[in-house]
Amino acid sequence: MGNTARHIAIIMDGNGRWANERGLKRIKGHERGAEVVRTITIHASNHPDIEVLTLYAFSTENWKRPKMEVEFLMRLLGNYLKNELPTYIKNEVRFETIGDLSRFSPALRKQIETMKQRTGHFKKLTQVLALNYGSQDEIARAARNLCETGKEIDTENLEKSLESAQFGPVDILIRTGGEQRLSNFLLWQSAYAELFFTSTLWPDFDPEELERIIEDFKKRHRRFGGI
Ligand code: FPP
Repeated sequence: MGNTARHIAIIMDGNGRWANERGLKRIKGHERGAEVVRTITIHASNHPDIEVLTLYAFSTENWKRPKMEVEFLMRLLGNYLKNELPTYIKNEVRFETIGDLSRFSPALRKQIETMKQRTGHFKKLTQVLALNYGSQDEIARAARNLCETGKEIDTENLEKSLESAQFGPVDILIRTGGEQRLSNFLLWQSAYAELFFTSTLWPDFDPEELERIIEDFKKRHRRFGGI
């Protein structure tokens, strides 16, 4: 028995360090990171408990990186979406996003839209990519929208106004790369998430480590504020 890992969210950190350790350019780490996204998504789609996998692919702060790196990440994402559509179809994975897409190029936005349309009916796993996402920004937007409706501002109504509400609360929040912080990721939805920090750099993360985390999670005593 134990807890059910319905929603897993991951802060994928450590691509740059992985590349540096090998004398490679940072972008090589991102390339390898994209392959791990694919492997973990396929694994999650075949896992009986996991219904939602949310991955932090680009934060509202990531625009501060050197222009070349930002451009590379955009290209990488575009190529990933183009190449991996068959993988999502084969594994029956629905593709979704959270975050403000308005800053992305029209071409990339179109690719994102196509991917959502082509996979929208799949039920085995929903993979949510957080793109230009920041949790404080999401909560502020929700509050603004709720104000406009004139409804009461309580936790239930505010939660319903959040873009991420449709994917439900996070059960397991993992951060790779050794840092122990949340970096403005899914703050509301992670209110009662079990947190896991691993020093493994994202390009080295694999399904075996994910399984070890899930096993550990199953044994944890979740009290949700009770006793
Ligand atoms: C953190 O590593 C990673 C990112 C900021 C981007 C995440 C992107 C990927 C995993 C690849 C692209 C994803 C898709 C879906 C195609 P970092 O650069 O902050 O690493 P560092 O802390 O070692 O510098």
